Amino acid sequence: MVEIWILGATGRAGRSISAELCRGGHQIVLVGRNAQRLSEAAAAIEALGGPTPRTLVTDDPAAQIAADRPDVVVNTVGPFGTTTVPTAQACVAAGSHYVDLANEFEPVRSLLELDTVARAAGSTLVTGAGFGVLATEALVYELCAGRPAPARVRVAAMPVVDGLGPAVLASVVDAAATGGLVYRNGRPVRTRLGAHLQHTPLPDGTTRDTVAVPTGELEAALRASGAAEVIATSSEVPTGRTARAALPIVGAMLRVGALRRIVIRAVDRWQLTPPSTPGDASWAYACAEWEGGETRQAWLRTGEGYQFTSRVAATVAARLAAGEARPGAFTPAALFGTDLARAAGGTITVDTAVKDPR
Ligand SMILES: NC(=O)c1ccc[n+]([C@@H]2O[C@H](COP(=O)([O-])OP(=O)(O)OC[C@H]3O[C@@H](n4cnc5c(N)ncnc54)[C@H](OP(=O)(O)O)[C@@H]3O)[C@@H](O)[C@H]2O)c1
Repeated sequence: MVEIWILGATGRAGRSISAELCRGGHQIVLVGRNAQRLSEAAAAIEALGGPTPRTLVTDDPAAQIAADRPDVVVNTVGPFGTTTVPTAQACVAAGSHYVDLANEFEPVRSLLELDTVARAAGSTLVTGAGFGVLATEALVYELCAGRPAPARVRVAAMPVVDGLGPAVLASVVDAAATGGLVYRNGRPVRTRLGAHLQHTPLPDGTTRDTVAVPTGELEAALRASGAAEVIATSSEVPTGRTARAALPIVGAMLRVGALRRIVIRAVDRWQLTPPSTPGDASWAYACAEWEGGETRQAWLRTGEGYQFTSRVAATVAARLAAGEARPGAFTPAALFGTDLARAAGGTITVDTAVKDPR
C-alpha cells in the first residue's frame, strides 16, 4: 500500500493532517524527533478507530527519505526557510512526491524554482497546501479565468484560528525578517514592513484592517494572474498605528541572524491563543483591476483555519498518492484547480459590481 509520511507529526497541523488521512483509509507514517511525543500522537490516531500508525524517530528526515523512498512526504516543520528546500530536494532524489504548508515568501518561491528538476525526476512538489497559499490563490484564479492579465491584483488573508503552535510564531519571525515586499512592474520591490494598510471589504459591507506582508500568497497571486502589480496583505500582523510604526524596526532587528535565532528559540516555548470567538469565520479576499477600470472582487469563507489547512494538505497528499498529478513544482490551485478550496470547505463568492475601497 502507498505510504504517506507526515514530518512534524507531533505538532498541531501534523496531528490534524494525520487524522484526516487516517479517516480516508490511507497508510501513514508519523515522523518526528521525539519518541514519546510520537507515540502519544500515534495513540491519538488509534483512538479514532483505525490501525496504529507506524512511527519513525529521526533527527535527519532527508537521510531517511533517501534511504526509504516513501511515496509521499507531507512537511509541516516550520519555519520553512530551513526545511522546504532540503526536504523537497531529498524527495526529488528519492522519486517521492512532496507537500508542505509554507506560506513564507522565500521558501514558496524557492520550491517553485525546483520545477525543472522535479519534472525530470518525475516528482510532484506542492507548496502552500493550507489556508495560506490556497485560499487567496483560488480567488485570483476565479477572477482571472478566461481573461487577459489584469493590471493590478491585491489579496488579503484573514484566517481565524483557535490556537497557535510555536512553529507558527517562528514562521512569523522569519517572515518579518524578510521585510515588506510587493510586486511592481512584475518585479519584487522592498517596501516598509507594515506599510499598505488596507480596509479590506467583506461581503456584508464591513471591513477588516490588513497590512502588506511578504507571504507565499504574493508569489502565488503573481503567477495566477500575470499582473504587473501585486500586493498581499494579512490580518495576522498587528494593524494599529503604533504597531505599524514599530514593525520596520522589529523587521530590521530580526534580519540580524544571531538575534533572529535567539527570538526563534524563545518563541519555541510560547503557546498563544489568538483572539477569536466561536462562530468567527476565516476570510480570504482578492481584487483584480484591469486597464480601463474594470474591477472584480472575490471572497472565500471558511471556518477555523487549521481545519481548512488540514483538509487541503490531506487532499493534496491523497491525490498525489493516487497518482493524480503531473511532475513539477506547484502551488495547490495551480495543480488541482480552485475546486480544491471548495473541497476543503471554502465557499467562494465573486462580485463584479463593487469597487475596491482603497
Ligand atoms: N499555510 C498555512 O495556512 C499554515 C497553516 C497552519 C500552519 N502552518 C505552518 O505550519 C508549521 C507547523 O505549524 P503547527 O501549528 O503544526 O506548529 P507546531 O504545533 O509548533 O508543530 C511543529 C512541529 O514541527 C516539529 N519541529 C519543530 N522544530 C523542529 C526541528 N528543528 N526538527 C524537527 N522537527 C521540528 C515539532 O516537533 P516536536 O514535537 O519534536 O517539537 C512539531 O511536530 C508552521 O510553520 C506554521 O506556520 C501553515
